[in-house]
Amino acid sequence: MSAIPPMVPLPAALPVLTGQRVRLRALREDEAEVAAFFEIFSDPEVMCYWSGVPMTSLDQAREKIRRTNGYLGEGVGLAWGIARTCDDRVIGTANLFDFHAQNRRCEIGYALGRAHWRQGLASEALTLGIGYVFEVMQLRRIEADIDPRNAASERILIRQGFRVEGLLRERWVVGDEVSDTRVLGLLRREWTGGAGA
Ligand SMILES: CC(C)(COP(=O)(O)OP(=O)(O)OC[C@H]1O[C@@H](n2cnc3c(N)ncnc32)[C@H](O)[C@@H]1OP(=O)(O)O)[C@@H](O)C(=O)NCCC(=O)NCCS
Repeated sequence: MSAIPPMVPLPAALPVLTGQRVRLRALREDEAEVAAFFEIFSDPEVMCYWSGVPMTSLDQAREKIRRTNGYLGEGVGLAWGIARTCDDRVIGTANLFDFHAQNRRCEIGYALGRAHWRQGLASEALTLGIGYVFEVMQLRRIEADIDPRNAASERILIRQGFRVEGLLRERWVVGDEVSDTRVLGLLRREWTGGAGA
């Protein structure tokens, strides 16, 4: 028997993870949530270093939520909305995806509406999601792929204990822009729980 605990399979239903100020939960497909989702992903500032262009219609938001909600059933990963604990309003998303059972690793991605930046909310959401895959699913490593100019994204990863591991040149073409990728990796034994580094 392997001395390395196996990856616990993805759950049948998306777990709800509740923190002090944010809760990770499934996105709803109602009109209020579609509008909140669209507000986030149509904002050029939010999408500045994203791997896609800003949304231009509510239909795109509706379709994206529908696809996202299928990820768990398809084995793609855990795709959460980040909702405020106080009023359950969706302010962002946090995804853990591309699980490799053999290698006990996955990738992470996240975004928050601009009105909610710099309040530590993304860090709290990351702590909840990372805690789930390390402590419940027994993963050993998480990878992040960020634009090297995305200082906020790098900072929240470093705060979790991620380390910069390399640069992949000209990895993305978004619209007319070509951009590099900075790769960061987090090992379970180096995780700070969001306490900072
Ligand atoms: C990246 C993002 C989720 C950070 O969210 P946030 O809630 O503002 O992050 P936090 O408040 O938890 O801040 C964490 C740290 O980043 C720092 N930070 C936040 N915005 C920053 C910025 N624009 N420039 C530099 N540092 C920044 C904070 O000061 C804080 O630092 P500290 O740990 O030293 O206290 C948010 O900026 C965002 O949604 N950006 C657009 C989407 C995106 O780029 N996603 C990542 C794709 S890889």
